[in-house]
Amino acid sequence: MVLFFKKELPSNPLSLRRKMQQLIAGNWKMNLLRGPAAALARDVAAGAAGLHCGLAVFPTFTALAAVQAVLRGGPVMLGAQDCHVAVSGAFTGDVAAVMLADAGCGAVIVGHSERRQCHGETSAGVQGKAAAAAAAGLLAVVCVGETEAERDAGHAERLVCRQVAESVPAGFSGVVAYEPIWAIGTGRTPTQQDVAAMHGAIRAALLRHLGPDGAGVRILYGGSVNPENAAGLLAVPDVGGALVGGASLDAQKFLAIAAAAQRG
Ligand code: 13P
Repeated sequence: MVLFFKKELPSNPLSLRRKMQQLIAGNWKMNLLRGPAAALARDVAAGAAGLHCGLAVFPTFTALAAVQAVLRGGPVMLGAQDCHVAVSGAFTGDVAAVMLADAGCGAVIVGHSERRQCHGETSAGVQGKAAAAAAAGLLAVVCVGETEAERDAGHAERLVCRQVAESVPAGFSGVVAYEPIWAIGTGRTPTQQDVAAMHGAIRAALLRHLGPDGAGVRILYGGSVNPENAAGLLAVPDVGGALVGGASLDAQKFLAIAAAAQRG
């Protein structure tokens, strides 16, 4: 089990990636009041021992403090679901990356498709957020993924690789999460062959965009990951872990997915 809590993070987060353990991340989205969130975090932390992967959970902003109190000093990393590009200022309703770090977060998701679709977020904006996250010492989880229409039209790889090039900032040392939009919350997943092809294309895009550093960027798969399909998806080459939505709200399911992670 890799210690992911911020205080335990080595000064260079790349050293975590070199261990090549997979990362199983739970995106709790807009769910759970503080009490149930803390209870879920307690159950996840209790099941973390003996796993051969890193764990992270991403509660909603209002539950961060309650979950941080549970996870403090332990192996499960705390993250948030979005941040603003600026350090401070007149941005009503927004939260700066440095504020998330101050609240005990070690990571933040940026550019989730639900933010791109519901809030009109662009790849250029996501790139700024990822850079702000890195500047605040947070691991940025940059999400990319195509719609079903884009896949049906045969444009998925080209569009996702463009999202990568436009959303990932120079000098990036975070994580990319490939989440096909049509697989999120639907119970449908791409075939393992399709995941392998897309992750290979994303890897090539990262190498073009970042040079040799692109080889070290972890690429997660997300979209309807569950205990039944996790082992197959996590065995695909270049899948560095999973970003889990619905199943991460159930500690047993989330831990079962983590148990399916590959040994480092
Ligand atoms: P589901 O696992 O519910 O499909 O959600 C995936 C997701 O959007 C994680 O960020």
